[in-house]
Amino acid sequence: MQHLLSTVKLTKPQIMQYINMAKQFKDQNTFHCLLKNKTIVNLFYEPSTRTSCSFHKAMLQLGGSVINVTDKYSSVEKGETLEDTIKTLSLYGDAIVLRHPLIGASLRAAAVASVPIINAGDGAGEHPSQALLDIFTIQTELMKYGLDINEENREPIVVTFMGDLKNSRTIHSLIHVLCLFPGISFLFVNPPGLEMPSSITDKLSQLNIAFSQEQTLEVALKTTDVLYVTRIQKERFLNPADYETIVINTVNKEMLKNAKEKMIIMHPLPRLTEIDVDVDNDIRAVYFEQVKNGVYMRMAILAQLLL
Ligand code: CP
Repeated sequence: MQHLLSTVKLTKPQIMQYINMAKQFKDQNTFHCLLKNKTIVNLFYEPSTRTSCSFHKAMLQLGGSVINVTDKYSSVEKGETLEDTIKTLSLYGDAIVLRHPLIGASLRAAAVASVPIINAGDGAGEHPSQALLDIFTIQTELMKYGLDINEENREPIVVTFMGDLKNSRTIHSLIHVLCLFPGISFLFVNPPGLEMPSSITDKLSQLNIAFSQEQTLEVALKTTDVLYVTRIQKERFLNPADYETIVINTVNKEMLKNAKEKMIIMHPLPRLTEIDVDVDNDIRAVYFEQVKNGVYMRMAILAQLLL
């Protein structure tokens, strides 16, 4: 039985297989009966729009069915443990998609589950299905500029991560994936105190992958090929007053005049004020394409784990 808990141990061939399968589903854009008679349980202890809905839609497009469970409207509210909830839902579904506020929750779930667990976000830990849809988006969007991330001899690619690098689980998962591809370096732009975890920067150093901190986005933008913006994760602050002190940078049209013509702007969403809505119609903004790609990548993940 295979779970999807983290991107740390994924290999490049596995990632390319996910990308190719998602691409096939996107090109076909049709219904399948691959998972007829299969059911997934969407078990969410935290709010979600994209992850829960896209797993739901992906399962329907594969001919399967979905049971939706939230903490507020289940026996979790009466105090049932995560372990008992997982053991129970393993009897109803063929896989469980789990979002939980605690780092490591999906690992705990996998230890007692009798069906595959898909980590749909564990606190500030990881969000592997988002990383897979992100790499799928990077691959397909940069290809439009003739840049193949998988090609050894192409131009170097600069990926800039901006926002809450400490708590963004989507960035934590994506950077492990990007480390597998050649010629990619990283720039970090974040408010003080929200730096990339040392476990990740230590890994980059060990792998000899270049990274540096930039004070302003304006400077970083000049060389950026992929700008990946995240929201400041208010829900991860132990002291709400600390959140109020954060100065949030906003990507706007004016700023993008200094960016490359051939680059892309990504965001896992939801967005607050970190990208101005005026940027949405910029050809380089691909965050709603990410949303779309989420369905096809999650079809690939479900097919991979359930067939
Ligand atoms: N990107 C993402 O995880 O969005 P949701 O929180 O809406 O699922």
